[in-house]
Amino acid sequence: MIEHVLVTGGCGFIGSNLVDKLIEQKQPVICLDNLDNFYSKERKLLNIQTAEKSDLFTFIEGDIRDKSSLKRVFENYKIISVIHLAAKAGVRPSIETPSEYFDVNVTGTLNILEMMQKFNVKKLIFSSSSSVYGNNVKIPYHENDNVDFPISPYAASKKSGELLTHTFHSLYGIDVINLRFFTVYGPRQRPDLAIHKFFKLLYANEPIELYGDGSTSRDYTFIDDIVTGIISSLTKLNNKQNIYETINLGNHSPITLIELIDLIEKTTGLTFKKNHIPMQQGDVDRTYADIEKASSYINYTPKTSMNDGLKLFKQWYEKTMV
Ligand SMILES: NC(=O)c1ccc[n+]([C@@H]2O[C@H](COP(=O)([O-])OP(=O)(O)OC[C@H]3O[C@@H](n4cnc5c(N)ncnc54)[C@H](O)[C@@H]3O)[C@@H](O)[C@H]2O)c1
Repeated sequence: MIEHVLVTGGCGFIGSNLVDKLIEQKQPVICLDNLDNFYSKERKLLNIQTAEKSDLFTFIEGDIRDKSSLKRVFENYKIISVIHLAAKAGVRPSIETPSEYFDVNVTGTLNILEMMQKFNVKKLIFSSSSSVYGNNVKIPYHENDNVDFPISPYAASKKSGELLTHTFHSLYGIDVINLRFFTVYGPRQRPDLAIHKFFKLLYANEPIELYGDGSTSRDYTFIDDIVTGIISSLTKLNNKQNIYETINLGNHSPITLIELIDLIEKTTGLTFKKNHIPMQQGDVDRTYADIEKASSYINYTPKTSMNDGLKLFKQWYEKTMV
């Protein structure tokens, strides 16, 4: 039987970029995704258009909340590792529908872990988030910092996921790397995220909403660097036994909202119209990754500057969205 990596949420932004890279490296992939309505289903199907040309790729439309269809996936295919990206993402909408976030991000993650235990699959990468750090005062954020103070249901659901992966590591010896992603951007980025949203409004000549005084900052990390970090983590997992690690994947180079706006204007040659509005509940003031552990443990070095990353985003945006 062919050995597959199961990528949950493989039609999404990070998932589809990862799947393309795995296929390029000749790794058979099962992509499980329910094409949820957080954003356009058509966009998600476009994301996997290239992968679908390969015999190494299998797409299964299914929901991680549905245990019986999840079981069929594990029965019908030989899964050797799982990269679990499926989730309801986004901080602000999680405040509106917290129980949905917990159903998918916590119960869904528990279902994946139960299947892994049942079918003796021992290698898991879990997609966590910088949001678990809440409004950590100490910067940069280090993996050993206390993350018991989330300020959104989304952040709490990701922290809960980390607790579950530890539980199953401890009980059943599932090897785990939790990756805490820091604001990822690049081609196929989710439309609700700042850079994508800003390009859309800029090209439509509509005003953007500028939260607070624009001094909040984010450690924007380019998608190719994130994909490289995920694949290095998978290699590490496959080559080592009995591991449970949590690793930041960030850029270690935060920029403020004002600086981001300035950089986008320079990249596009256009000028934003701005509406100033108060800071939103649940949003953290800053994110800033300490990436020493990623560097020493999985040899991770982010290579894409914000200037280059925005140019690549612009190329993709103009080709596919305008
Ligand atoms: N993009 C970021 O900046 C960022 C930062 C930190 C963490 N993350 C995490 O990384 C992962 C991927 O994020 P993304 O930005 O690619 O989001 P995305 O929304 O583009 O991708 C998530 C995918 O999961 C699928 N999905 C949702 N609910 C599902 C369910 N019940 N069953 C099966 N599939 C389901 C969606 O259809 C989507 O294709 C998520 O777990 C997210 O929380 C992302």
